[in-house]
Amino acid sequence: MSLELSPEAFRQLGYQVIDILAEQLASFEDGPARRALTDSQRQQLIEQPLPETPQSPADLIQRVANDVLPYPMGNNSPRFFAWVNSPAAPIGILAEALAAGLNPSVAGGDHAATYVEHAVLNWLKQIMHFPADASAILVSGGSMANLTGLAVMRYVKSTYNVREAGMIAEAPMIIYASEQGHSSLQKAIEMLGFGTSNLRKLPVDDQYRMDTTALRQAIAADRAAGLRPVAVAASAGTVNTGAIDPLAEIADICAAEDLWFHIDGAYGGVGILAEQTAGLYDGIERADSLAIDPHKWLYVPVECGCALVKDGQAMRDTFSLVPNYLRDDRVLPWFAEFGAQQTRGFKALKLWMTMQQIGIQGYRDLITHDVAMARYLQHCLGQRDDFELIAAGPLSITCFRYRPAHVAAEKLDDLNRELLQIAQQQGHVYLTSTTLQDQVVLRACIVNFRTTEADIDALLDTLAGAGQQVLQS
Ligand SMILES: Cc1ncc(COP(=O)(O)O)c(C=O)c1O
Repeated sequence: MSLELSPEAFRQLGYQVIDILAEQLASFEDGPARRALTDSQRQQLIEQPLPETPQSPADLIQRVANDVLPYPMGNNSPRFFAWVNSPAAPIGILAEALAAGLNPSVAGGDHAATYVEHAVLNWLKQIMHFPADASAILVSGGSMANLTGLAVMRYVKSTYNVREAGMIAEAPMIIYASEQGHSSLQKAIEMLGFGTSNLRKLPVDDQYRMDTTALRQAIAADRAAGLRPVAVAASAGTVNTGAIDPLAEIADICAAEDLWFHIDGAYGGVGILAEQTAGLYDGIERADSLAIDPHKWLYVPVECGCALVKDGQAMRDTFSLVPNYLRDDRVLPWFAEFGAQQTRGFKALKLWMTMQQIGIQGYRDLITHDVAMARYLQHCLGQRDDFELIAAGPLSITCFRYRPAHVAAEKLDDLNRELLQIAQQQGHVYLTSTTLQDQVVLRACIVNFRTTEADIDALLDTLAGAGQQVLQS
């Protein structure tokens, strides 16, 4: 069995793939956001036998077209409103193929992929108002970016060499986030050995932003109890409502209290480019570390997150461990010295190509458009008497409920849960829910360059239709 394909055979297979992708691209506008798999289809996919003998590449590509592509998560559709998953910019899809064609490890070293990553990191620093001499690294996503930033914080804030000694008994280090902070912050705190009991989940104000009075009080109480406050992990765009914590005020508190200032901007960081958000990000430039997620609102295919750390030497000191066999070829410090991974994929290429195709003005327009679509949804909710608006953050997330006048308040959780299930099964639109103030709410997130007002009209009509169906059954 030879793995090699002749250039002609490779070309033919490539055309087959491109034809399938082009057809898929043409289907997003009118096709369903999501199509349910049957039980037997699920089983077939899971229980495929270990392939003993070679199979034809053309047949395999056709099987992907038949058995995988028709059952997407849905995020390429203009009517996908769930979670924070954007469609992939088409040029990013092609970039993935080109990156795999080169197949470098971007651990570091003197080859083109290294410099492409440095270029995109420089661009991301500029967008996020970080200085040129800050350090940054591409990682798999926002969770790893939060972990990376907080790992540097742990190294800096430990009073001894934590790399050598591990987490030894001293006054527990305390980290502050809002109760709306993303679960990946807690995961990072747990993985880094701080322990969840040392993560203070602070209350929020009526716009779901961190309550800074509560932050000040918690720091004072922890100090009085002999504990050691070390960091605030703020959010620039919470996942529930898109709230942006008062960053400038938190930066002041961190400076006064000598705390590390981390910001989780995985969803909302690049919302700084939107016309509607002027002033809301003031203070972001004072963060010690920042997580952003190009595979969300910069529309590149997953996976692509980015950790930025102001003190590059601290970042290198946290991770650098250079084995002898890697000591040559050192034009620049290796990326592997700034994060957890050694072999690293060429994630930068999809960002490099997508950012140049769109341009920063293009991103400003696209992200501004997404925020405008959220405002249109909020406007429509205000016009209808069968829905109520629950939370409208400054970005592109809206929380609301189906609430016809005659339905009793205590029935609303069940009603919204059930209508959501119906709408999800229909698949024309795709939406999920969350819990706010102990009530089930529908949550629409728009990080989608394909979404138009007509898609939002379709969303509300579909939900109202599903709601009627529940009420009649
Ligand atoms: C605010 C926030 N932080 C962190 C994350 C985690 O990012 P990822 O899923 O890319 O790991 C998310 C994901 O939606 C998020 O919305």
